[in-house]
Amino acid sequence: MIKAGDIVELEIEKLLYQGSSLARYYSDETPSGFSVFVFGGAVEDKLKVKILKVNKSYATGEIVEIVKPSKYRKKPFCPLFNACGGCFYQYLDYDFLVEQKNNMLKESFSKLDYDVEILNPIKSPNKEGYRRKIQYRVSQTKNSKRLLVGYYKEKSHDIVNIKYCPIQPKIADDLAQFLRDNWALGAYVEKTHKGLLRAFILRLSSDLKSVLITLVLNSNLEDYLKIENDVLDFAQKITSKFQVVKGVNVNLNPNKTNLIFSCDFKNVLGDEYIVENLKSQDGTVKSYKISPESFFQVNPDCASLIFDEAKKYIDDNSTILDAYGGVGTIGIYLSDKARKIYLVEENESATKNAKENFKLNNCKNYEVFLGDAKECFRKFLKEKKTFDTVILDPPRAGCDKEALDLISKMCNKIIYISCNPQTLVRDLNYLFELNFKAKQTRMADMFPYSYHLESITLVEKVQDV
Ligand SMILES: C[S@@+](CC[C@H](N)C(=O)[O-])C[C@H]1O[C@@H](n2cnc3c(N)ncnc32)[C@H](O)[C@@H]1O
Repeated sequence: MIKAGDIVELEIEKLLYQGSSLARYYSDETPSGFSVFVFGGAVEDKLKVKILKVNKSYATGEIVEIVKPSKYRKKPFCPLFNACGGCFYQYLDYDFLVEQKNNMLKESFSKLDYDVEILNPIKSPNKEGYRRKIQYRVSQTKNSKRLLVGYYKEKSHDIVNIKYCPIQPKIADDLAQFLRDNWALGAYVEKTHKGLLRAFILRLSSDLKSVLITLVLNSNLEDYLKIENDVLDFAQKITSKFQVVKGVNVNLNPNKTNLIFSCDFKNVLGDEYIVENLKSQDGTVKSYKISPESFFQVNPDCASLIFDEAKKYIDDNSTILDAYGGVGTIGIYLSDKARKIYLVEENESATKNAKENFKLNNCKNYEVFLGDAKECFRKFLKEKKTFDTVILDPPRAGCDKEALDLISKMCNKIIYISCNPQTLVRDLNYLFELNFKAKQTRMADMFPYSYHLESITLVEKVQDV
């Protein structure tokens, strides 16, 4: 039997959700193969692997040497690939990776007690330069006080100082460089919890005609008022150098926390929000105001393709509940087919944006509910509300049982948009107990080269015969 520290030769069979890959170690004791999970493998790689840990039914290992590389390997297009870790799978051929992600979705669905039709995956229209939300952490070096602006290296809080990132538009690199060269008020050092600038947040419109900047400061209001003019001075400099910057905001976050934002935002100059336009395949365009703290899709061009799928599932003149609705993105996208849209969202600024967005898009028949989804559903049930379709687009954790119980009593059709196949299938299993079955699902590659995968699933009530 293998043990920690052994170096063994293995061949990778498949990629697994969240960045690992599977190989099998064959021996007399394990003739059908003992599973070894290896980070960074590619299908058909022949590898020397150092065993790190052996559990009852599987082991984990790390690559020591690539003996024969897989034919699906290719040179990563980003020079910081090894240091950054943001695009985990840049060493793989794109089409092959999409196929593998689709297999991961299929495998998740195989855990259901019934078959679901798996449609062809949706690929991202852009594989590079697609990100429209950038959340850079900021710090400074100990001696020279040089500004570091970038992402945390994987599994650490060390900032990779990113001067070029091919999955983001070039303007993001230029703005980060401007910050390095012109920010004179000092940056945050996590160890000492001292220093001012903690994060540099950009929200870019799809057409790259507008950018919203948020500077996250380690400061309370009293201290901020002392430096307000200096921050304004920086905001004036950056907006006059880059005409596309339509607004600069600050977020005051003096807390010892990993959360980027506190709830304390102040406008410094220009707009407090950005306007994004999403164009559907039938040519209709919907516009959205988005505040810095409101959720909005990171890859809007790919998101529209997912929402176009949702549109196909909606009957004309439907009553729609857009649960976990954010700034109204999906509800408004579907509004041409809706008689009325109900939106539920727990983030206050997102609900404010949503109300403005319904008006901006001339939607007249809508209601926006601020609060926890479950509590709103309870209220709806009490009022005997029913919906033709419920859109479920929850965070990674999925929905809880009570939320699903309540929803199952108020509709016959659910469109479940998910960013986590594991919680999706857990929820589908529970919905099956409630007499709802998934009919079709489709993977969408919203984050090319990462291990994330989105999906859209049509779920319908099983009609009694
Ligand atoms: C994945 S986002 C989807 C947003 C929106 N559907 C979109 O496409 O832009 C999930 C949203 O659910 C909201 N949310 C998270 N937990 C919630 C809860 N318990 N009740 C209501 N909304 C919640 C988040 O604030 C976020 O806006």
